[in-house]
Amino acid sequence: MGPRLTGDETALWVAAARVLDANWTGAATVPSPGLYPHQWSWDSAFIGIGLAHHLPERARTEFLSLFRGQWATGLLPHIVFNPTEARDAYFPGPEVWRSAAQPAAPRGVDTSGLTQPPLHALAALRMVQASGGTADRAFLTPLYSCLVAQHAYLARDRDIGGGGLASLCHPWESGLDDSPVWDSPLAAVDPRGAAYSGGDHDRYVALVAGMRAAGYRAEYLRDDHPFVVEDPLFNAVYLASTHALAELADLTGADPRPHREAADRIHGALLERLWDESAGCFRARDVRTGCLIPETTVAGFAPLLDPELPAAVVRPLADLLLSARFAGATGYPVPTCDIQSEAFDRGAYWRGPTWVNTNWLLWFGACAHGLGTVADLLFGSTVRLVRQSGFREYFDPFDGSGRGSHDFSSSAALVLDLLTARRGS
Ligand code: GLC
Repeated sequence: MGPRLTGDETALWVAAARVLDANWTGAATVPSPGLYPHQWSWDSAFIGIGLAHHLPERARTEFLSLFRGQWATGLLPHIVFNPTEARDAYFPGPEVWRSAAQPAAPRGVDTSGLTQPPLHALAALRMVQASGGTADRAFLTPLYSCLVAQHAYLARDRDIGGGGLASLCHPWESGLDDSPVWDSPLAAVDPRGAAYSGGDHDRYVALVAGMRAAGYRAEYLRDDHPFVVEDPLFNAVYLASTHALAELADLTGADPRPHREAADRIHGALLERLWDESAGCFRARDVRTGCLIPETTVAGFAPLLDPELPAAVVRPLADLLLSARFAGATGYPVPTCDIQSEAFDRGAYWRGPTWVNTNWLLWFGACAHGLGTVADLLFGSTVRLVRQSGFREYFDPFDGSGRGSHDFSSSAALVLDLLTARRGS
């Protein structure tokens, strides 16, 4: 048995569990009360990782609810709408996506037509590990098939660049909705016909309108859709989950080899297509222009999730992360954007603030690479943030003040996972 939690950590645990309990609808956990009244895909994966230490049965129900929204194509939608909420409770709601009109969408549940980082296989594996490695077959066997379908969709319909990576077709698919990385590919999108706010939001809505009009078909995305980007965070998560799928295959008696081969391909493609050696970091590639996008953000560190990332890449990445452009000049790292970039804004969502979920991803990757200093820094910064400001959606990286919504589920869930790791260390 490792060290016990201190009194302060126990209080933090209780507070985090309380947030998750309050945000539970009976079938799923909303990301936060009020602002996000439905189920979001990657939030649910983070929530599952934390719930596995608190109420494992509820973690399984969370996943079952989410996968009820999966399309016949394998697409796992980024939002599964709660039918008990008003249809206009959130914009863009069911009327915007119109999934009910799509033959591939499930019946009886409204969803969006986009996806989000495919963290679910990794989360499912963590759920199994948290229960001592014993797989609940009745849960895991059908879930494994859904996860295989999710990955098959990405490999078949989203390798638009043709190099082995999955492309994003909308900034909202990244999880990092308004990152400055999207500014240049978005500028190429014609916002006409989607006037909503008069700003960049129109381009977001125009992209949805184009996808919906084309029935969210793969051919449209491949040949005509204006926004197609290969993102290092999305693909690093895809790779980590592909490794997890191989382990889940072992647990369910399925063949792990196809997943190991897929992982090899994604690993090679990440290095070949997104590693920018001169900058010492990973960057996103705009598939429509063929160019790397010259913004350095937290997403560029996510390939630390690749267990086979060569030391010659890990070293410069860790140096950049600890430098005065990221952790080295902020009291509460990791800022989501290079603080020396013109686009950096300490209070604006994904353009600067620190988030618990991106910190957790980097912490997880740093642990896998034995980067003790980085892992300790991320652990300490994250715990200090929530201790000081509560389970907020995001935080000012300089003074740690809370921003965005309160009682944010994934912030709470991931703190449960961090505290569990400490208890086990
Ligand atoms: C915002 C975030 C996204 C998250 C969603 C629900 O859209 O950018 O990462 O999944 O809110 O919390």
